[in-house]
Amino acid sequence: MKRSLAAAIIAMVSGSCAIAAPDTYPSQPITFLVPYAAGGPTDTVARLLAEAMGRRLGGRIIVENVAGAGGTLGSGRVAKAEPNGYTLLLNHIGMATSVTLYPGASYDPVAAFEPIGLIVDVPMTMVGRASLEPNSLAELVSFVRRGEGRATYAHAGPGTASHLCGTMFLAATRMTATAVPYRGTGPAMSDLVGGQVDFMCDQTTNTTTFIRSGHVKAYVTTRAARIPTLPEVPSAPEAGFATLELSIWHGLYAPKGTPPEIRQKLEAALAAALDDPALTARFGELGGIVVAQAERRPAALRAKLAAEIERWRGVLSPAQ
Ligand code: MLT
Repeated sequence: MKRSLAAAIIAMVSGSCAIAAPDTYPSQPITFLVPYAAGGPTDTVARLLAEAMGRRLGGRIIVENVAGAGGTLGSGRVAKAEPNGYTLLLNHIGMATSVTLYPGASYDPVAAFEPIGLIVDVPMTMVGRASLEPNSLAELVSFVRRGEGRATYAHAGPGTASHLCGTMFLAATRMTATAVPYRGTGPAMSDLVGGQVDFMCDQTTNTTTFIRSGHVKAYVTTRAARIPTLPEVPSAPEAGFATLELSIWHGLYAPKGTPPEIRQKLEAALAAALDDPALTARFGELGGIVVAQAERRPAALRAKLAAEIERWRGVLSPAQ
């Protein structure tokens, strides 16, 4: 009797799915856990990828949002999940910054996961509520400076992409403002559109729609050159903020101990999904650039995570 069939029988008899049956995987819906609130940029990446990967795996992939503590609550949930291929984590740069900013987190972002592969790089845009007086980044700087800390900016919690970009902007201009943390920039965008908060730096996977509709004002993008889908928005160097370059990388992770046969199926489905012209085009419409084929592999994500952990440790560690 094949080992996997025996394993499946043991699993059924013991009532546990702890023993994965790689040959029949997936035999139930897979969960992409997004550690930020629904409706934000990470949620958008997850839902687009889930549809494309699900088709290639021949199964359904559902997206679950578990927000809080800058993404570490949801990431910790996946770290402790059964390593059976049915609970995966889709997270971004926050996976690296959490090592420095959340030393008490219940998991180690490197030791607790099996990297599946990198997905997409997404630039950011500094956006303001439509009623904000400034119409350029220079005018926004004057507005914030005059506010002497009273201007409000939204982010998704310490260490998230929106938090990194916002604090980099304030540090580069030596200004202060009042941070308004949210469980993700989906809900933050709702308040920005509603005029409850003044500005935010967020990924184009979330801001593009609202910039085009005129619900928010765009001041700068964090890419070295203008984004083709937002041609009217100056790049960071054009706006005099070359240091404000920031691209948000996204990766897919399985819990440590997930069987190699299952991980190989996931790696193949990820690579094939990212070859899908429709998915590449959709990410492109939202300013994202799907990673090259060589980066859709575990080794590339492992190396990226290690390098980014060191990069942000140097930036975020309190001055010695
Ligand atoms: C972030 O700033 O990291 C994003 O808000 C995360 C998200 O909401 O998708």
